[in-house]
Amino acid sequence: MQIDVAVIHGPNLNLLGTREPGVYGSQTLAEIDTQIMSGARELGLAVTIAQYSGEGEIVDAIHAAAHNARAIVINPAAYTHYSVAVRDAIAAVAIPTIEVHLSNTAAREEFRSIGITSAVARGTIGGFGGYSYVLALYAVAQLLGR
Ligand code: DQA
Repeated sequence: MQIDVAVIHGPNLNLLGTREPGVYGSQTLAEIDTQIMSGARELGLAVTIAQYSGEGEIVDAIHAAAHNARAIVINPAAYTHYSVAVRDAIAAVAIPTIEVHLSNTAAREEFRSIGITSAVARGTIGGFGGYSYVLALYAVAQLLGR
């Protein structure tokens, strides 16, 4: 089945709601997924959403998206800062990838200012909590000419 956007959540995002609420807020991942689905409905985009902890699983999900989606919205979480494998997977596929972050990584620890994966994304949106994903869907809609 061809879909518009494969939304991929990275490691530790399944713990949102209780994970460092001072940094990430109190929204659970399920609540963010509901927000993503309602944004997608408004924009007329068909989306799938999945969360993975493993680096290889994320690489596989990016490869699969290249066959069944028109764009990727990904929060690589910690992999953003060091995964050459996730970076290479994003660079290897022809469809556009928008990277999102809940927090403003530029305003945090020094190591988070390095974005290994960000450099190969079409663009990056961060700092708006769950709404970062909705903003990314707007970017996808524009890229797909919707
Ligand atoms: C994050 C930021 C990363 O630095 C961190 O490792 C995460 C979440 C964010 O959404 O703000 O797990 O990607």
